[in-house]
Amino acid sequence: MSVDKLFTQNFRNLDGGSINFHPKLNFVVGDNGSGKSSLLEAIFFLGHGKSFRTSKVDSLASHETQSFVVSVKDSNDRQLGLSRDISIGLTNIKIDGEHYSKLSVLAKNIAIQIVTPESFKLFFGGPKERRRFVDLGMFHVKHEFSTLWKTFNRVLKQRNACIRSIDKTSDINNNSMLSYWTEQFCQLSIEVSVLRATYVSDIISELNYWLAILLPDIRERVTVQYLQGWSQKMALVDVLSSNQDREASFGYSLYGAHKFDVKFLLDKKAIETQLSRGQQKLFLLALTFAQASFIARVKLVKPILLIDDIGAELDINSRSALSNAINKLDCQVIITAIESSVLQPFFGPCDDRKYSMFHVKHGRVSERYPDDSEFN
Ligand SMILES: Nc1ncnc2c1ncn2[C@@H]1O[C@H](COP(=O)(O)OP(=O)(O)O)[C@@H](O)[C@H]1O
Ligand SMILES: [Mg+2]
Repeated sequence: MSVDKLFTQNFRNLDGGSINFHPKLNFVVGDNGSGKSSLLEAIFFLGHGKSFRTSKVDSLASHETQSFVVSVKDSNDRQLGLSRDISIGLTNIKIDGEHYSKLSVLAKNIAIQIVTPESFKLFFGGPKERRRFVDLGMFHVKHEFSTLWKTFNRVLKQRNACIRSIDKTSDINNNSMLSYWTEQFCQLSIEVSVLRATYVSDIISELNYWLAILLPDIRERVTVQYLQGWSQKMALVDVLSSNQDREASFGYSLYGAHKFDVKFLLDKKAIETQLSRGQQKLFLLALTFAQASFIARVKLVKPILLIDDIGAELDINSRSALSNAINKLDCQVIITAIESSVLQPFFGPCDDRKYSMFHVKHGRVSERYPDDSEFN
């Protein structure tokens, strides 16, 4: 699936109206503050029901407005729309004319990944972003994950509530409740962990292919470690029983499938301490491509890849490698840049225009053609 047509109304500084995208490759060029990230944000919002740069959904509405709309028509002629009324705090989801209230229906229809100039700092900065990254892929690739993860989180919540109440009352009944939830929690943690381990190992094989294009010099020296959320050497139930006091003082579950992580090493050292910022960005792009191509292969939903400000941190060789990688990727890609000159490596010597080019100025997006004076 790809986004054929995007329609926005009262979204950030965007002028509104509709934009027709190329099914494969799209470039969006414009000065700082013109609305490039806002355009990607609108598309991202449709896949996630939230923004990649703020947790305040209401700030997406254009200043002085009380509601906004984003909708797309996809390549299968489906219509996917989201509107938000900020005066009553209500988001309305509409897919082919049917109304939905749960944001999770969006992710079933559209798999959107984004790489921004900040992404690699977040990704290598802590486990939260890495968990989010892996679980987005899990959701799209492993059919059983969504229900399993929902059940796991429900049990985790119950177990945490139990831990907190024991701390206060030391009630014997709560202890048996805790044993009950702990047993379920351990079982589900193991199930989730087994599923994630297979997913991570699939992604690692895929990653090798993309590293060969994007960072060939380091490929052989990279190793990936999957940490399941508790010691590999002990049963989770034993880890939990030997940490009962610690969990009671924290008031929540310190070990389990929710605490997993994936560590990337170069010559056995944390990769972010070994690579330049540009290389870290390329590494994250390789990983994102690995995940996108894997999602595309499973064919439940086709991924859409957004790359914001491609010029940031990447030199011409890196951008050439990236152009090479994008040619091999079977999904729609939308790239923004401040200057069209940084996009030069993406245009072949005999440009047969397998892409669309847009220009944004003061929130107005217009398509550019090769003979337009502002094209180059
Ligand atoms: N809710 C909003 N309503 C109107 N304008 C906004 C809103 N939020 C941000 N802006 C403005 O939109 C402009 C475009 O921002 P952005 O998309 O980040 O630009 P770019 O990525 O092209 O540098 C900025 O000038 C910003 O101040
Ligand atoms: Mg921007």
